[in-house]
Amino acid sequence: MRMDSELAACRRCDLWRAATQAVGGEGPAEAKIMLVGEQPGDAEDIAGAPFVGPAGRVLNEALRLAGLERDCLYVTNAVKHFKHEMRGKRRLHKRPDDGEIIACRLWLDAERARIEPRVIVAMGATAAFAVLGRHLPVLGSRDKVFQVPPAARAVVTVHPSYLLRMRDKPAWSKALADLAGDLRRAAELAV
Ligand code: URA
Repeated sequence: MRMDSELAACRRCDLWRAATQAVGGEGPAEAKIMLVGEQPGDAEDIAGAPFVGPAGRVLNEALRLAGLERDCLYVTNAVKHFKHEMRGKRRLHKRPDDGEIIACRLWLDAERARIEPRVIVAMGATAAFAVLGRHLPVLGSRDKVFQVPPAARAVVTVHPSYLLRMRDKPAWSKALADLAGDLRRAAELAV
């Protein structure tokens, strides 16, 4: 696909320099729901596919609870290169800045134009900024439905990696159920 080779050659910001590859979205062209995360992590950077690492396992579990098939959804990220810093031999995630998110908007817009999802789920603050063009409080935006021109609607929920940082099991279970609830609500909006 043309976008793949253009994306692979993207130099719109500097993140390509330290990344293995650009990671585009994945899913069927007829998907009615688009899930947007922040950026590929260490595992995604190596595999070349979104949400295949620890955050992807949380996402898969939330989708299972919500009764949704991942294969029917389009899964992508706001930023297509892995931003990180080296700590010894480890590559530690670094949050992309506004300039990098805006530079990468072109690719997200191209995916949206191609897939034409009915509902976009922005997972986390970076995705919310990329999809809606303004900074929003994630938890305070959760129960809202946003219009995204020309014809999509968007909801905001937490990023799956938010759950990876939780150590308290009951809180983790509630956060997972809430994420699954947000995904189910998105599916209802997409009908
Ligand atoms: N976090 C993201 O936002 N996206 C991925 O693909 C993996 C982890």
